Amino acid sequence: MKPEELIDEVRQSKLRGRGGAGFNCGQKWYFAYTARADEKFVICNADEGEPGTYKDRIIMENDPHVLIEGMTICATAIGARQGYIYLRGEYPQVVNILNTAIDQAKARGLLDDFDIEVRSGAGAYVCGEETALIESIEGKRGEPRYKPPYPPVEGLWNQPTIVNNVETFAAVPAIVKNGASWYASIGHPDYPGTKIVTLTGDVNNRTFFEVPTNTTIREIIYEFGGGIPAGKKFKAVQVGGTSGAFIPEENLDTPLAFDTMTAIGATLGSGAVLVLDESRNLIDVLTRISGFFQHESCGKCAPCREGTMRLYDLMLKVNNGTGKPQDIKIMQKLGNVMAISCLCGLGQAAPAPILSSLEHFPADFNVKLM
Ligand SMILES: Cc1cc2nc3c(=O)[nH]c(=O)nc-3n(C[C@H](O)[C@H](O)[C@H](O)COP(=O)(O)O)c2cc1C
Repeated sequence: MKPEELIDEVRQSKLRGRGGAGFNCGQKWYFAYTARADEKFVICNADEGEPGTYKDRIIMENDPHVLIEGMTICATAIGARQGYIYLRGEYPQVVNILNTAIDQAKARGLLDDFDIEVRSGAGAYVCGEETALIESIEGKRGEPRYKPPYPPVEGLWNQPTIVNNVETFAAVPAIVKNGASWYASIGHPDYPGTKIVTLTGDVNNRTFFEVPTNTTIREIIYEFGGGIPAGKKFKAVQVGGTSGAFIPEENLDTPLAFDTMTAIGATLGSGAVLVLDESRNLIDVLTRISGFFQHESCGKCAPCREGTMRLYDLMLKVNNGTGKPQDIKIMQKLGNVMAISCLCGLGQAAPAPILSSLEHFPADFNVKLM
Protein backbone atom coordinates (compact mmCIF):
# COMPACT_ATOMS: atom_id res chain seq x y z
CA MET A 1 0.00 0.00 0.00
CA LYS A 2 1.07 3.58 -0.62
CA PRO A 3 1.58 5.93 2.37
CA GLU A 4 -1.70 7.76 1.69
CA GLU A 5 -3.58 4.46 1.54
CA LEU A 6 -2.10 3.29 4.85
CA ILE A 7 -2.92 6.58 6.57
CA ASP A 8 -6.43 6.55 5.17
CA GLU A 9 -7.06 2.98 6.33
CA VAL A 10 -5.89 3.79 9.87
CA ARG A 11 -7.88 7.04 9.91
CA GLN A 12 -11.07 5.37 8.66
CA SER A 13 -10.72 2.66 11.30
CA LYS A 14 -11.19 5.42 13.92
CA LEU A 15 -8.34 3.96 15.97
CA ARG A 16 -7.67 6.40 18.83
CA GLY A 17 -4.59 6.52 21.03
CA ARG A 18 -4.43 4.03 23.88
CA GLY A 19 -1.92 6.11 25.91
CA GLY A 20 -4.50 8.42 27.49
CA ALA A 21 -5.26 11.36 25.19
CA GLY A 22 -7.40 9.39 22.72
CA PHE A 23 -6.31 11.29 19.59
CA ASN A 24 -7.22 9.83 16.17
CA CYS A 25 -4.15 7.84 15.18
CA GLY A 26 -4.45 8.17 11.38
CA GLN A 27 -5.01 11.92 11.68
CA LYS A 28 -1.83 12.26 13.72
CA TRP A 29 0.10 10.26 11.12
CA TYR A 30 -1.31 12.53 8.40
CA PHE A 31 0.16 15.63 10.12
CA ALA A 32 3.62 14.04 10.16
CA TYR A 33 3.21 12.77 6.59
CA THR A 34 2.42 16.24 5.25
CA ALA A 35 5.15 17.98 7.31
CA ARG A 36 8.12 18.80 5.11
CA ALA A 37 11.43 17.67 6.58
CA ASP A 38 14.58 15.75 5.68
CA GLU A 39 14.13 13.36 8.56
CA LYS A 40 11.14 12.01 10.47
CA PHE A 41 10.92 9.75 13.51
CA VAL A 42 8.62 7.13 15.00
CA ILE A 43 8.60 6.72 18.77
CA CYS A 44 6.80 4.07 20.73
CA ASN A 45 5.78 5.26 24.18
CA ALA A 46 6.43 2.20 26.36
CA ASP A 47 7.12 4.24 29.50
CA GLU A 48 4.07 2.78 31.24
CA GLY A 49 4.61 4.59 34.53
CA GLU A 50 0.95 4.73 35.50
CA PRO A 51 0.47 2.82 38.77
CA GLY A 52 -1.73 -0.26 38.33
CA THR A 53 -1.05 -0.42 34.59
CA TYR A 54 0.93 -3.20 32.91
CA LYS A 55 -0.90 -3.67 29.61
CA ASP A 56 2.05 -2.60 27.44
CA ARG A 57 4.34 -5.04 29.23
CA ILE A 58 1.90 -7.86 28.44
CA ILE A 59 2.02 -7.00 24.73
CA MET A 60 5.82 -6.58 24.62
CA GLU A 61 6.51 -9.78 26.54
CA ASN A 62 4.07 -11.91 24.58
CA ASP A 63 4.11 -10.49 21.06
CA PRO A 64 6.94 -7.98 20.50
CA HIS A 65 6.64 -8.50 16.73
CA VAL A 66 3.18 -6.97 16.58
CA LEU A 67 4.67 -3.76 18.00
CA ILE A 68 7.60 -3.80 15.56
CA GLU A 69 5.16 -4.36 12.70
CA GLY A 70 2.90 -1.50 13.82
CA MET A 71 5.87 0.88 14.10
CA THR A 72 7.18 -0.21 10.69
CA ILE A 73 3.80 0.44 9.08
CA CYS A 74 3.82 3.92 10.67
CA ALA A 75 7.37 4.56 9.38
CA THR A 76 6.29 3.51 5.87
CA ALA A 77 3.25 5.79 6.08
CA ILE A 78 5.04 8.96 7.25
CA GLY A 79 8.46 8.34 5.64
CA ALA A 80 10.64 7.72 8.73
CA ARG A 81 13.86 5.71 8.79
CA GLN A 82 14.57 5.72 12.51
CA GLY A 83 12.40 4.57 15.38
CA TYR A 84 12.76 4.39 19.15
CA ILE A 85 11.01 2.37 21.80
CA TYR A 86 11.14 4.38 25.04
CA LEU A 87 10.84 1.66 27.65
CA ARG A 88 9.92 1.98 31.31
CA GLY A 89 13.14 1.77 33.34
CA GLU A 90 11.58 -0.77 35.69
CA TYR A 91 11.13 -3.28 32.83
CA PRO A 92 14.77 -4.49 32.39
CA GLN A 93 13.62 -7.97 31.35
CA VAL A 94 11.72 -6.51 28.38
CA VAL A 95 14.87 -4.94 26.88
CA ASN A 96 16.21 -8.37 25.86
CA ILE A 97 12.84 -9.48 24.50
CA LEU A 98 12.56 -6.38 22.32
CA ASN A 99 16.17 -6.52 21.12
CA THR A 100 15.84 -10.22 20.25
CA ALA A 101 12.67 -9.50 18.28
CA ILE A 102 14.32 -6.56 16.48
CA ASP A 103 17.28 -8.82 15.55
CA GLN A 104 14.88 -11.50 14.28
CA ALA A 105 13.04 -8.94 12.14
CA LYS A 106 16.36 -7.65 10.78
CA ALA A 107 17.54 -11.19 9.96
CA ARG A 108 14.41 -11.65 7.83
CA GLY A 109 14.98 -8.38 6.01
CA LEU A 110 11.92 -6.74 7.53
CA LEU A 111 13.80 -3.74 8.88
CA ASP A 112 15.96 -2.91 5.85
CA ASP A 113 14.48 0.59 5.51
CA PHE A 114 13.68 1.33 9.13
CA ASP A 115 15.80 0.85 12.24
CA ILE A 116 14.48 0.61 15.80
CA GLU A 117 16.47 1.34 18.95
CA VAL A 118 15.36 0.59 22.50
CA ARG A 119 15.94 3.39 25.05
CA SER A 120 15.37 2.79 28.74
CA GLY A 121 13.82 5.45 30.96
CA ALA A 122 15.12 6.12 34.46
CA GLY A 123 11.94 5.91 36.49
CA ALA A 124 10.38 9.34 36.00
CA TYR A 125 6.59 9.28 35.61
CA VAL A 126 6.60 12.58 33.70
CA CYS A 127 8.76 11.04 30.96
CA GLY A 128 5.61 9.24 29.76
CA GLU A 129 4.36 12.68 28.64
CA GLU A 130 5.33 12.70 24.99
CA THR A 131 7.39 15.91 24.88
CA ALA A 132 9.23 15.09 28.15
CA LEU A 133 9.93 11.69 26.61
CA ILE A 134 11.38 13.38 23.51
CA GLU A 135 13.59 15.61 25.69
CA SER A 136 14.78 12.49 27.50
CA ILE A 137 15.73 10.72 24.25
CA GLU A 138 17.62 13.86 23.26
CA GLY A 139 19.68 13.39 26.42
CA LYS A 140 18.14 16.27 28.34
CA ARG A 141 16.29 16.41 31.64
CA GLY A 142 12.78 14.98 31.12
CA GLU A 143 10.50 18.03 31.24
CA PRO A 144 7.47 18.75 29.03
CA ARG A 145 7.78 21.29 26.23
CA TYR A 146 5.39 24.15 25.59
CA LYS A 147 2.87 23.19 22.91
CA PRO A 148 2.28 23.98 20.05
CA PRO A 149 4.27 22.97 18.07
CA TYR A 150 3.11 19.39 18.56
CA PRO A 151 5.47 16.46 17.89
CA PRO A 152 3.97 15.44 14.49
CA VAL A 153 5.19 18.84 13.23
CA GLU A 154 8.21 19.43 15.48
CA GLY A 155 9.27 16.58 17.75
CA LEU A 156 12.55 14.72 18.19
CA TRP A 157 15.46 17.00 17.25
CA ASN A 158 12.75 19.38 16.01
CA GLN A 159 11.76 16.98 13.24
CA PRO A 160 8.25 15.59 12.58
CA THR A 161 7.73 12.75 15.03
CA ILE A 162 4.96 10.30 15.76
CA VAL A 163 4.64 9.21 19.37
CA ASN A 164 2.15 6.40 19.90
CA ASN A 165 1.48 4.05 22.76
CA VAL A 166 2.39 0.33 22.54
CA GLU A 167 -1.26 -0.73 22.47
CA THR A 168 -2.00 1.77 19.67
CA PHE A 169 0.80 0.45 17.44
CA ALA A 170 -0.19 -3.13 18.26
CA ALA A 171 -3.68 -2.53 16.81
CA VAL A 172 -2.36 -1.32 13.45
CA PRO A 173 -1.30 -4.60 11.71
CA ALA A 174 -4.77 -6.12 12.14
CA ILE A 175 -6.39 -2.93 10.81
CA VAL A 176 -4.22 -2.99 7.68
CA LYS A 177 -4.84 -6.71 7.21
CA ASN A 178 -8.61 -6.79 7.86
CA GLY A 179 -9.60 -3.28 6.80
CA ALA A 180 -10.85 -0.14 8.50
CA SER A 181 -14.53 -1.09 8.57
CA TRP A 182 -13.79 -4.40 10.26
CA TYR A 183 -12.02 -2.57 13.08
CA ALA A 184 -14.55 0.26 13.30
CA SER A 185 -17.32 -2.31 13.85
CA ILE A 186 -15.76 -3.65 17.08
CA GLY A 187 -16.73 -2.15 20.46
CA HIS A 188 -18.00 1.40 21.03
CA PRO A 189 -18.43 3.42 17.80
CA ASP A 190 -16.64 6.54 19.19
CA TYR A 191 -13.61 4.61 20.38
CA PRO A 192 -13.68 1.36 18.45
CA GLY A 193 -11.61 -1.75 18.93
CA THR A 194 -10.50 -3.43 22.10
CA LYS A 195 -8.85 -2.23 25.28
CA ILE A 196 -6.56 -4.10 27.59
CA VAL A 197 -7.78 -3.58 31.13
CA THR A 198 -5.56 -4.22 34.16
CA LEU A 199 -7.74 -4.93 37.16
CA THR A 200 -6.47 -4.43 40.73
CA GLY A 201 -7.77 -3.84 44.25
CA ASP A 202 -10.71 -5.53 45.96
CA VAL A 203 -11.75 -8.02 43.27
CA ASN A 204 -11.46 -11.79 43.07
CA ASN A 205 -9.51 -11.90 39.79
CA ARG A 206 -6.72 -9.34 39.85
CA THR A 207 -5.54 -9.80 36.31
CA PHE A 208 -5.79 -8.35 32.79
CA PHE A 209 -8.34 -8.77 30.00
CA GLU A 210 -8.68 -7.57 26.44
CA VAL A 211 -12.30 -6.47 26.00
CA PRO A 212 -14.30 -4.63 23.31
CA THR A 213 -14.64 -0.95 24.20
CA ASN A 214 -18.40 -1.20 24.77
CA THR A 215 -17.78 -3.34 27.86
CA THR A 216 -19.07 -1.59 31.00
CA ILE A 217 -17.18 -1.01 34.25
CA ARG A 218 -19.75 -3.23 35.99
CA GLU A 219 -19.00 -6.12 33.59
CA ILE A 220 -15.27 -5.67 34.20
CA ILE A 221 -15.70 -5.87 37.99
CA TYR A 222 -18.39 -8.54 38.29
CA GLU A 223 -18.03 -10.74 35.20
CA PHE A 224 -14.34 -10.59 34.30
CA GLY A 225 -13.17 -9.70 37.81
CA GLY A 226 -15.43 -12.22 39.56
CA GLY A 227 -16.87 -9.59 41.94
CA ILE A 228 -15.73 -8.34 45.34
CA PRO A 229 -14.24 -10.86 47.81
CA ALA A 230 -15.58 -11.85 51.25
CA GLY A 231 -19.14 -10.74 50.50
CA LYS A 232 -18.24 -7.08 50.91
CA LYS A 233 -20.03 -4.29 49.08
CA PHE A 234 -18.65 -2.05 46.36
CA LYS A 235 -17.54 1.43 47.38
CA ALA A 236 -15.65 3.13 44.52
CA VAL A 237 -13.65 2.46 41.40
CA GLN A 238 -10.80 4.49 39.94
CA VAL A 239 -10.37 4.12 36.20
CA GLY A 240 -7.34 5.22 34.19
CA GLY A 241 -4.58 5.18 36.78
CA THR A 242 -3.58 7.44 39.67
CA SER A 243 -4.99 10.60 38.13
CA GLY A 244 -8.40 9.03 37.44
CA ALA A 245 -11.57 10.15 39.18
CA PHE A 246 -13.20 7.98 41.85
CA ILE A 247 -16.47 6.72 40.43
CA PRO A 248 -19.52 5.76 42.51
CA GLU A 249 -21.90 2.80 42.07
CA GLU A 250 -24.43 4.79 40.03
CA ASN A 251 -21.97 5.17 37.12
CA LEU A 252 -20.92 1.51 36.85
CA ASP A 253 -22.90 0.93 33.66
CA THR A 254 -20.63 3.29 31.70
CA PRO A 255 -18.75 1.64 28.81
CA LEU A 256 -14.95 1.75 29.05
CA ALA A 257 -14.60 4.03 26.03
CA PHE A 258 -13.10 7.51 25.79
CA ASP A 259 -16.04 9.90 25.49
CA THR A 260 -18.35 7.80 27.66
CA MET A 261 -15.88 8.14 30.54
CA THR A 262 -15.43 11.88 29.96
CA ALA A 263 -19.22 12.28 30.04
CA ILE A 264 -19.34 11.06 33.66
CA GLY A 265 -16.49 13.39 34.70
CA ALA A 266 -13.88 10.62 34.60
CA THR A 267 -11.14 9.56 32.16
CA LEU A 268 -10.31 6.31 30.41
CA GLY A 269 -6.57 6.99 30.82
CA SER A 270 -4.45 3.87 30.55
CA GLY A 271 -7.40 1.55 31.22
CA ALA A 272 -6.29 0.57 34.73
CA VAL A 273 -9.23 -0.28 37.00
CA LEU A 274 -8.77 -0.08 40.80
CA VAL A 275 -11.69 -1.35 42.88
CA LEU A 276 -12.26 -0.37 46.52
CA ASP A 277 -14.71 -2.18 48.77
CA GLU A 278 -16.81 -0.66 51.55
CA SER A 279 -14.07 -1.15 54.16
CA ARG A 280 -11.71 1.32 52.44
CA ASN A 281 -11.29 4.87 53.60
CA LEU A 282 -10.56 7.10 50.62
CA ILE A 283 -8.47 9.52 52.67
CA ASP A 284 -5.60 7.02 52.98
CA VAL A 285 -5.67 6.35 49.26
CA LEU A 286 -5.87 10.05 48.35
CA THR A 287 -2.98 10.93 50.67
CA ARG A 288 -0.77 8.35 48.97
CA ILE A 289 -1.86 9.51 45.53
CA SER A 290 -1.11 13.16 46.28
CA GLY A 291 2.27 12.10 47.73
CA PHE A 292 2.98 10.35 44.44
CA PHE A 293 2.18 13.46 42.38
CA GLN A 294 4.23 15.87 44.49
CA HIS A 295 7.15 13.43 44.17
CA GLU A 296 6.77 13.04 40.41
CA SER A 297 6.14 16.70 39.53
CA CYS A 298 9.13 17.77 37.43
CA GLY A 299 8.98 21.33 38.79
CA LYS A 300 9.08 23.12 35.45
CA CYS A 301 5.80 25.02 35.94
CA ALA A 302 4.77 26.75 39.17
CA PRO A 303 1.12 25.58 39.34
CA CYS A 304 2.22 21.94 39.40
CA ARG A 305 5.40 22.37 41.43
CA GLU A 306 3.60 24.30 44.18
CA GLY A 307 0.12 22.86 43.70
CA THR A 308 1.01 19.18 44.09
CA MET A 309 3.01 20.04 47.22
CA ARG A 310 0.13 22.01 48.78
CA LEU A 311 -2.44 19.33 47.92
CA TYR A 312 -0.23 16.74 49.62
CA ASP A 313 0.20 18.95 52.73
CA LEU A 314 -3.56 19.46 52.95
CA MET A 315 -4.29 15.75 52.49
CA LEU A 316 -1.81 14.94 55.27
CA LYS A 317 -3.73 17.34 57.54
CA VAL A 318 -7.07 15.76 56.65
CA ASN A 319 -5.54 12.32 57.16
CA ASN A 320 -4.19 13.06 60.63
CA GLY A 321 -7.46 14.66 61.75
CA THR A 322 -6.27 18.27 61.90
CA GLY A 323 -7.95 19.32 58.64
CA LYS A 324 -10.37 22.25 58.77
CA PRO A 325 -13.33 23.09 56.51
CA GLN A 326 -11.23 25.90 55.06
CA ASP A 327 -8.66 23.31 53.88
CA ILE A 328 -11.30 21.59 51.78
CA LYS A 329 -12.20 24.88 50.14
CA ILE A 330 -8.54 25.56 49.37
CA MET A 331 -8.13 22.08 47.83
CA GLN A 332 -11.15 22.66 45.59
CA LYS A 333 -9.97 26.10 44.48
CA LEU A 334 -6.38 25.01 43.99
CA GLY A 335 -7.44 21.86 42.13
CA ASN A 336 -9.56 23.86 39.70
CA VAL A 337 -6.71 26.31 39.06
CA MET A 338 -4.24 23.46 38.47
CA ALA A 339 -6.58 21.76 36.00
CA ILE A 340 -6.50 24.81 33.73
CA SER A 341 -3.03 26.24 34.34
CA CYS A 342 -0.50 23.41 34.62
CA LEU A 343 1.82 22.91 31.67
CA CYS A 344 1.14 19.21 31.15
CA GLY A 345 -1.33 16.50 32.00
CA LEU A 346 0.49 15.54 35.20
CA GLY A 347 -0.47 18.70 37.08
CA GLN A 348 -3.75 19.15 35.19
CA ALA A 349 -5.02 15.74 36.27
CA ALA A 350 -3.38 15.48 39.71
CA PRO A 351 -6.35 17.03 41.60
CA ALA A 352 -8.98 14.82 39.87
CA PRO A 353 -8.99 12.00 42.45
CA ILE A 354 -9.47 14.52 45.31
CA LEU A 355 -12.09 16.63 43.53
CA SER A 356 -14.13 13.60 42.46
CA SER A 357 -13.96 12.12 45.97
CA LEU A 358 -15.18 15.40 47.48
CA GLU A 359 -18.10 15.28 45.06
CA HIS A 360 -19.10 11.63 45.48
CA PHE A 361 -17.74 10.58 48.89
CA PRO A 362 -17.75 13.75 51.08
CA ALA A 363 -18.39 11.71 54.24
CA ASP A 364 -14.87 10.25 54.04
CA PHE A 365 -13.32 13.66 54.69
CA ASN A 366 -13.32 13.85 58.47
CA VAL A 367 -13.72 17.60 58.59
CA LYS A 368 -17.08 19.30 58.73
CA LEU A 369 -17.84 20.26 55.14
CA MET A 370 -19.28 23.73 54.58
C1 LIG B 1 2.30 12.65 33.10
C2 LIG B 1 1.96 11.89 31.86
C3 LIG B 1 2.36 10.56 31.74
C4 LIG B 1 2.07 9.84 30.59
N1 LIG B 1 2.49 8.55 30.51
C5 LIG B 1 2.25 7.85 29.38
C6 LIG B 1 2.72 6.50 29.25
O1 LIG B 1 3.33 5.95 30.17
N2 LIG B 1 2.46 5.84 28.09
C7 LIG B 1 1.77 6.43 27.06
O2 LIG B 1 1.58 5.82 26.01
N3 LIG B 1 1.30 7.70 27.16
C8 LIG B 1 1.54 8.41 28.28
N4 LIG B 1 1.10 9.70 28.35
C9 LIG B 1 0.39 10.28 27.18
C10 LIG B 1 1.39 10.78 26.13
O3 LIG B 1 1.72 12.14 26.41
C11 LIG B 1 0.81 10.73 24.70
O4 LIG B 1 -0.48 11.27 24.69
C12 LIG B 1 0.73 9.32 24.13
O5 LIG B 1 1.97 8.67 24.19
C13 LIG B 1 0.29 9.38 22.67
O6 LIG B 1 0.13 8.08 22.14
P1 LIG B 1 -1.30 7.54 21.72
O7 LIG B 1 -1.92 8.58 20.82
O8 LIG B 1 -1.03 6.27 21.00
O9 LIG B 1 -2.08 7.36 22.96
C14 LIG B 1 1.35 10.45 29.51
C15 LIG B 1 0.92 11.78 29.64
C16 LIG B 1 1.21 12.48 30.81
C17 LIG B 1 0.74 13.91 30.91
